[in-house]
Amino acid sequence: MRLKRSPGWRALAGMAGRALVLVAVLAAAFGCSVPFLREVGYATLAQGERNGHEAFGRDYMIVTQGEASSRAAREMLERGGNVVDAAAAASFALAVERPQSTGLGGGGFMLIHWATSGEVIAVDFRETAPRRATEALFQDPAGRVIPGLSTEGIRAAAVPGLVAGILAVHGRYGKLPRRDVLAPSIRLARRGFRVYPHLAQALLARAQALRRFPAARATFLKADGTPYREGELLRQPDLARTLETIAERGTAGFYAGWVADALLAQQRELNGLITRDDLEGYQVRFRAPVLGTYRDYQIVSMPLPSAGGIQLVEILNLLEAQPLGRLGPSAAETIHSVAAAMQQSFADRARYLGDDDFVRVPVAGLTSKAYARALSQRLPARARKPWELEGDRPLPPEGGETTHFTIADRWGNVVSSTQTINGWFGSGVVVPGAGFVLNNEMDDFSAKPGMPNKFGVVSDRQNAIAPGKRPLSSMAPTLVRKNGRPVLALGSPAGSRIITCIALVALNYLQFQLPLYEAVAALRYHHQWRPDELEVEPPGFAPETARALEALGYRVVNRDSGCKVQAVAVEGDRLHGVSDPRGEGLALGEDWPPLARDPRRRAPIPPD
Ligand code: GLY
Repeated sequence: MRLKRSPGWRALAGMAGRALVLVAVLAAAFGCSVPFLREVGYATLAQGERNGHEAFGRDYMIVTQGEASSRAAREMLERGGNVVDAAAAASFALAVERPQSTGLGGGGFMLIHWATSGEVIAVDFRETAPRRATEALFQDPAGRVIPGLSTEGIRAAAVPGLVAGILAVHGRYGKLPRRDVLAPSIRLARRGFRVYPHLAQALLARAQALRRFPAARATFLKADGTPYREGELLRQPDLARTLETIAERGTAGFYAGWVADALLAQQRELNGLITRDDLEGYQVRFRAPVLGTYRDYQIVSMPLPSAGGIQLVEILNLLEAQPLGRLGPSAAETIHSVAAAMQQSFADRARYLGDDDFVRVPVAGLTSKAYARALSQRLPARARKPWELEGDRPLPPEGGETTHFTIADRWGNVVSSTQTINGWFGSGVVVPGAGFVLNNEMDDFSAKPGMPNKFGVVSDRQNAIAPGKRPLSSMAPTLVRKNGRPVLALGSPAGSRIITCIALVALNYLQFQLPLYEAVAALRYHHQWRPDELEVEPPGFAPETARALEALGYRVVNRDSGCKVQAVAVEGDRLHGVSDPRGEGLALGEDWPPLARDPRRRAPIPPD
C-alpha cells in the first residue's frame, strides 16, 4: 500500500511522528542507543507506517523514486540478472514513470561498485553542448543574458547522453539480453500508469510551457488542453515505440534511424543547434571516481563534470576536525560549522570548477586535507558575507528536476545513479512521434560569468559554454566504504541541494549514528554562498536555534530543499533501504525477515 498525501494523512503522520519523538525522548533518557533522535526536529513516521519508504533485505535492496521502476529492477534480479541489469531496467522505467525528471532526452551519472574486485567505476553520460554552441549563446548583442533562453525551448537542449550511457554500461556488465531490460519500460509506456501527486503537480506547473509544442501537448495534456490529474491514466505510445526501437537496435535505435531523423527535423524546424554529427559523435566516459575520507570511512563519489563529489569531499574534510559528535546534529554551533563548510565549497565551485576535459581544475588540491586544514584555521566565528569568500584564500596546493536510485545485492555489488533532464519537463520540447522530452541542461553552463542558473548557482568562465563541453553538475551518486566494503550508498535529485543533502545524511548516519530512516528524514538545511541565505526546510529550526543562527549573522529562510534521498546501508548481513519519505519512491528488499522466505524461491543471485 502506498502513502497518500491527504491532509488527514499528514495529521496522522504528524501525530505518529510526535509519538515517535516522545518514545525516542523516553528511550534516550533510559539509555537508548539512538543518540540525538530527540533533537533532529523533523517529525518522522513510526515504524510500520513507513510502508514503501523503508525496507530490509538479505539478497538485494532497490530504492528508486518510482513504484513501477523499483518493480522493473526487481524483475531483472528475480530473473537472474545482476545489479547492472536492474539499474538499466530502472533507468528506462524511470524515463517513462518520471517524465518530469528524467528521460531518453537527458543524461546522468552512475557509480558501480564490484565486490569481487573492489573496483568503483564512475560512468559519465552527461549531455554535451552542441558543436555549433558558442560562449555567448544566451546573451543579446549587448552582452545581457536573455531571460528564459537557456531553460525554455529548443536552444536549452544539450545533446542527450542517457541512452548511450545506459546501453554502454549494460553492454559491458549486464547479463540479461537488452530486450529483457527494456521490456518493463515498454510495457509501462504502452499500458500507462495512474498519475501520482508529484507528476500531477509538475504537469500543472508546466502546462503552459508544454502547450507551446504540439508533440508535448499531445503527450502530456488531454484533448481539451488541460494537464492530466492525479489518478488519471497516462499512456505514452510514442515513447513505447522509441523504447522498442532501442531494444531492437541499441544505440543506433536512438542516435541514428527514424528517432534521430525526427529529432533532427525538429531541430531544423525550430532553429535548434543539434546536428547529426552531435548525435553520432556522442561519447560516454568511464572515469575514475573522486575519493576522500571522513574519519574511518572512504568517500567515493562522482568526478567532474559533476561538482558534487569534489564539494562533498571538501565539506566533509572541513568538518572532520570539528567537535560535531559532542554538539549533536541540531546544535546551532553544528549548523554554523556545516553551513560555513557548504558556503566555502560553493565559493570554490564558482571559482575553480568546470569540465576538466576543457579547463584545468585543481581537483587534488580542493579535495586535500591540507587545503581543509588551511581553511579551517580561518573558519569564522560568525556567518560570512558572500564577498568575504571572493578574495584571496589559501590556494589549493595543486594546481529541478532529476531522479536518483540505488541498488545493492548481498555480495556488495552496488549501483548508484542520478539521471536528469534538468527542470520539470526539461526544455518543454517533446520530439514528435518519439515521445521523449529534450533536456534543458544548457542552463547548467554559465550563461555569463557570475550569472546564477535556475538553481541560483553562480559559476565563472571555467563553466562557460564551448562546443562538446559538459555543463557542471551537482549530481553526486555516492558510495561510502569501510575497510573496502560498502557501508552506505546514496544520492538525490534537487540541483545544488543534492550536495548538501547528501552531506547531511552522511553526517547523520556516520557521525551522529542516527538510524538510516531518521538520517534521511531529519531536518535539512542548505547554504550555497550565493544567495546569502541559510535555507531550512519547513517547519524550520527550533525558535531558539534560529535566533542563535541569526545572531551569528545568518539570514535564515524557510524553503523546501526538494531533495529525495534514496539510500541503501549495509548493516551486518542485511541491507537497509530508505526512499526519502518526502517523495513517492519505493524501497524493495528481499528475504527479510528470514521467516518470510519462500522455500520455493529461485536460487540466490550469483556474484559477478
Ligand atoms: N541538472 C542538475 C544538475 O546536473 O546538477
